Amino acid sequence: MKRITIAIDGHSSCGKSTMAKDLARTIGYIYIDSGAMYRCCTLYALRHGLIDAHGRINETELERRINTLQVGFAYDAGRNISLCTLNGDTVEGLIRTMEVSAHVSPIAALPFVRRAMTAQQQAMGREGGIVMDGRDIGTAVFPNAELKVFVTASDEIRAQRRYDELRAKGEECDFDSVLANLRERDRIDSTRAVAPLRRADDALILDNSHLTIEEQKQWLLDRYAERIAD
Ligand code: DC
Repeated sequence: MKRITIAIDGHSSCGKSTMAKDLARTIGYIYIDSGAMYRCCTLYALRHGLIDAHGRINETELERRINTLQVGFAYDAGRNISLCTLNGDTVEGLIRTMEVSAHVSPIAALPFVRRAMTAQQQAMGREGGIVMDGRDIGTAVFPNAELKVFVTASDEIRAQRRYDELRAKGEECDFDSVLANLRERDRIDSTRAVAPLRRADDALILDNSHLTIEEQKQWLLDRYAERIAD
């Protein structure tokens, strides 16, 4: 059976990763969370003092070091999840904090960061058999992907999901800040000059505001089955 490339793009916290991950597991494909890669760059910049207290980025230094950042995904068989690694260290928990979320969009808007991450993503998908989610997968990373989906849901529903996720992990946060952060990220992601968040012309739209995880999963599996049958 042919192994295709599946691109899943959409707004932040719209449940893309959950559905992409589920699909990859069900059909035996590799799953790559491209947002995690931009989060790794942000974590690196924060850890190395390349973002100051006002949020200003030391672009010159980050650009000088960008090619030393190698992002990977290690499979944890015990928990049946893939963990993001930065230069070999597992950073899965560290990249999901509100601090990283607050700084990631400006980092992801830097052309040299996008170039470096896009090259790593394209290398990961060279053989096909991959499900990748993000903002520009169907438009810039894999413009020839056989199946492209653009996922969205209302701002409030997305913020509530993100809020629940953070609280479940024990992180202190309030709903209004989560909503404001999500809107600000969407604004930056959609208006940046390089590879902005937008629906590819040939992407299918999925508004999952009122769908259960099971319903989304089935919808995506059906679309995959259609493409494979083509
Ligand atoms: O999906 P996420 O919230 O983990 O993504 C983190 C940030 O990275 C988000 O602000 C958008 C950016 N991003 C991007 O610019 N391009 C991608 N392909 C994936 C994420």
